[in-house]
Amino acid sequence: MHAIGIDIGGTKIAGAVVDEAGGIVRSERVPTPAGDSQLLEDAVVEMIRTLSDGAADDVVVGVAAAGFIDAAQSTVYYAPNIDWRNEPFRAKLEARVGATVVVDNDANAAGWAEFRFGAGRMVSDMVMLTIGTGVGGAIVAGDRLFRGGFGAGAELGHLRVVPGGLPCGCGQRGCIEMYGSGRALLRMANEIADAGGIGLQLARARETSGALDGGIVGKMIEAEDPGAIAALRQLGHWLGEASASISAVLDPQRFVFGGGVAAAGELLLGPIREAYLEHLPARGYHPEPDFVIAELVNDAGVVGAADLARVWAAEHA
Ligand code: BGC
Ligand code: NA
Ligand code: ZN
Repeated sequence: MHAIGIDIGGTKIAGAVVDEAGGIVRSERVPTPAGDSQLLEDAVVEMIRTLSDGAADDVVVGVAAAGFIDAAQSTVYYAPNIDWRNEPFRAKLEARVGATVVVDNDANAAGWAEFRFGAGRMVSDMVMLTIGTGVGGAIVAGDRLFRGGFGAGAELGHLRVVPGGLPCGCGQRGCIEMYGSGRALLRMANEIADAGGIGLQLARARETSGALDGGIVGKMIEAEDPGAIAALRQLGHWLGEASASISAVLDPQRFVFGGGVAAAGELLLGPIREAYLEHLPARGYHPEPDFVIAELVNDAGVVGAADLARVWAAEHA
């Protein structure tokens, strides 16, 4: 069976035909139309049509979207960063493309891909955090993807780390998404730039380019600029603290970090491990997980979405 995976990101929509071993047979990408959910739907439809063109057999399509998804893998209950509220995305797409479509959370798709074909291959219990615009979560427990009773479990980005903290797109305050995401990194970098001292180069870069963005801060991290590294350390500390609480619930063997900010590699993992150990309940008396960077990087979403569609088709055959 032909499986297509589509990953709707903040800046681009990626799509691919994926084989049973997680290999990409063919891929496409287009920019995400900004601020209009109808244009977004049109772009996804167009991509499914392109990728299924010429397919001889049945096609199943997995669509990964950044939001709370129902247990039937059909409706986006809520998306903090897109204007979807109870969006019947699956039915809309199926009516237009004439193929079986399932909708999954973007981080669930990425985590599933890492578990099946990437950094989680060797373990049965794994947690993935995707560090991009938001913070996404995926839980594999006992070799199974955990969805929760209504489908919207594993929303780890909305774990509260600061009571009464910064307001989040989910309507609550103090979520790890506000302290551990790519957007949080930019806020921290700006604060460090404002304070002078080690923030001098960040302030200069901001002045030259008008505003700091992910690309600029990423390059400065690579060059080990002290201000940019300090921002990344703050981010890592929050993520490590949240991971310690996650361990108390799930006790994973491995934490996998993906998303754009994970390109920082060890520079991000170091502070995460440090803060994790500092906050781990019963530290020293039980085995500790390891912390690694995702292996499939940009392809995790499409590969996982396609594979989850295949799983769905097998279970509903
Ligand atoms: C959303 C999640 C999503 C994550 C990463 C969060 O704001 O609530 O559903 O997985 O962002 O895109
Ligand atoms: Na999730
Ligand atoms: Zn939240």
